Amino acid sequence: MNNQPTLHWIGGVDGHLRMIDQTLLPGEFKEIDCRDVESVWEAIKMLRTRGAPAIGIAAAYGVCVGMQTAAGKEESAWFKRLDEVADYLATSRPTAVNLFWALDRMKRTAVALRGSKTPVEIAEALLAEARAVNEEDRQICREIGRHGAELLADGMGVLTHCNAGGLATADYGTALAVFFAAAESGKRLHVYADETRPLLQGARLTAWELQQREIDVTLICDSMAAVVMREGRISAVVTGADRIAANGDAANKIGTYGVAQLARAHGIPFYVAAPISTFDFSLPSGDGIPIEQRDPREITHGFGRQTAPEGIDVYNPAFDVTPAELIEAIVCERGVIRPVTTERIAEVTGGGS
Ligand code: MRU
Repeated sequence: MNNQPTLHWIGGVDGHLRMIDQTLLPGEFKEIDCRDVESVWEAIKMLRTRGAPAIGIAAAYGVCVGMQTAAGKEESAWFKRLDEVADYLATSRPTAVNLFWALDRMKRTAVALRGSKTPVEIAEALLAEARAVNEEDRQICREIGRHGAELLADGMGVLTHCNAGGLATADYGTALAVFFAAAESGKRLHVYADETRPLLQGARLTAWELQQREIDVTLICDSMAAVVMREGRISAVVTGADRIAANGDAANKIGTYGVAQLARAHGIPFYVAAPISTFDFSLPSGDGIPIEQRDPREITHGFGRQTAPEGIDVYNPAFDVTPAELIEAIVCERGVIRPVTTERIAEVTGGGS
């Protein structure tokens, strides 16, 4: 089984970020090194590292890489560079709020030390903070798994969409953590993994992760979800999220909303598993969630081969929003949020504080 972490830091303050290049999986397992902030930005943009919590961790380490060129600068120039680095990383992808959460956290760490520590010491503190973001996510995923496993029973068939596994987090995952923890407690599950068009995170990554952990998994095309539900193969759906509004409306990989509607039509509970860092309490509902639009070539030239006529008009939103009323419960590190209402979310999460 692969035991390499999704992302980790090599060396001290002058070190670099190493990550699994997820675009090559499952055919090739390769790690890449990011030694400047531009390569971290590119890795996030091109989905070499992806999944909301992993994007946040990459951004935190990306700040550390980006600040290396400011070593030796005096304080005001150093803080100017910090703003530039954070603003630049913030342009890599718009939907996963963990990116902005991590950048804010890094900036707050630095600002709190301004005046009392030297830039050299603050750079050390930033690396410690990035490592803490990574390590906390490891723990949080275990907690999500533990709480979520309670929702599943031995022998169940379950369905997931996209990849919310170890590759999308520090390790262990959110939606997949629920399956891993249930399996570890002796419950036998059969997972149906949607392939997840257009970039196949389900086929390439979820199927791979589940196979590695020896969990029964069947890969289906996205368009087969309805029939497997109708055939009675699915007792629960669990997905991750990229941004959850204060009322529980949840953005996740394109196609998730359709899966939630299908689950409702078949009387199947639809669960979302996500850390509190994925909640955006500044948004009262999902209407304000920015949805990333991606390159049309992801649809017309998937994996190097042209599959649509030249010049065709394409719509390629990377995410959709599932309204809270379709979500049976949200599993976070503090427990199971049910019913999914603004009040109950605030009660369990503490509003992010
Ligand atoms: O475009 P991606 O691959 O970054 O999309 C990822 C997802 O939609 C995941 O389900 C979500 O980030 C949760 S990851 C624990």
